[in-house]
Amino acid sequence: MNSNVLLLGPGPCNPSQRVLESLGAPTLGHMDGEFLDLVEEIKSGLRSLFKTENSVTFPISGTGSSGMEFLLVNFLEPGDKFVVGVNGVFGGRAANLAKRLGAEVIEVSQEWGRAIDNQEFIEVVKREQPKLAMVVNGETSTGVYQPMDGIGDAVHEAGGLLMIDCVTSLAGMPVEIDAWGVDVAFSGTQKCLSVPPGLSPVTISDRAVEVFKQRKNPVPSFYFDLEQLLMYVDGTGGRSYHHTPPINMIYGLHTSLTEILEEGLENRWQRHADAANYLIQEMESFGFSPFVPESERLNPLTTLSLPEGLDEAGIRARIRNEHMIEVGAGLGPMAGKIWRIGLMGNNAAPSSVDQLVEALKATLG
Ligand SMILES: Cc1ncc(COP(=O)(O)O)c(C=O)c1O
Repeated sequence: MNSNVLLLGPGPCNPSQRVLESLGAPTLGHMDGEFLDLVEEIKSGLRSLFKTENSVTFPISGTGSSGMEFLLVNFLEPGDKFVVGVNGVFGGRAANLAKRLGAEVIEVSQEWGRAIDNQEFIEVVKREQPKLAMVVNGETSTGVYQPMDGIGDAVHEAGGLLMIDCVTSLAGMPVEIDAWGVDVAFSGTQKCLSVPPGLSPVTISDRAVEVFKQRKNPVPSFYFDLEQLLMYVDGTGGRSYHHTPPINMIYGLHTSLTEILEEGLENRWQRHADAANYLIQEMESFGFSPFVPESERLNPLTTLSLPEGLDEAGIRARIRNEHMIEVGAGLGPMAGKIWRIGLMGNNAAPSSVDQLVEALKATLG
């Protein structure tokens, strides 16, 4: 196994040395007081990251998709209306999952590479009065960052709850759960948090907890049942055993939260913006061009249209094999059309861009 690859794809990115070392700390039991103190510190750190006062804020055991599935199984029941913005893979994934749960799914579509039209989304919400409405805040398949203006108010006026996917935006760009009126949100550790994949931080508003309590049917999942999970996570439920959490991953998340709060969230957002701008400037000199209009760009993940005639798969393979740098290919309909370059977490730095530029120069001749 070679651990020296610079991960500039769509995630995971390279964790810091401190995070990697913390993963190897001696494992504690999940009922151990020392471990439970760490869990409480993580809940508090995640509240700072999500910019929320929500008491129900914790990491789900599983990757980002588990956070999505956890929220949908708890907040949707058969026949419930779910309005979802689909402008890439992950809105589509949520629509697919909601259909499996028997929800009535109303998709608000947009061409890949553009944000959902807020006015159109708001009109659909007003008309359909959904129980749950969702947008992907950072769409990793296209590199789009969704503006949130007006969406929270509209969803609440229609009597619903607002959900966002902030897997790629959290800790890399503004995510303002309370200010945006978001009720439920999920993220992942392997992007701008710079932890290996394996945990999905989630946050749930008090209003959403009240809606959850009105469910007519039991949650069709044991592992993701919010009420069961809270009996351990909340601390007021006597910390009863539900499942054994991935203890060492939780050490890694704890270390990463310490690092992020030491740096300062706003400084971190700025670092991601600076790195993305530098990347675009350098890549334009090779004939790459930004795929997304400037106002809708997701700084942690830049998508670039390819120069005419570039053997993109061949060049990507050489960059990986000869220069030990991973860059991401286009996904789904974007395959062969764009590259996805992640400058996430610790990798959001000019030195990452410089290494990629040197590798490209050597490869393109
Ligand atoms: C925006 C978005 N949502 C959801 C996911 C799913 O996360 P995971 O692959 O960790 O299950 C990803 C993963 O790349 C993502 O980028």
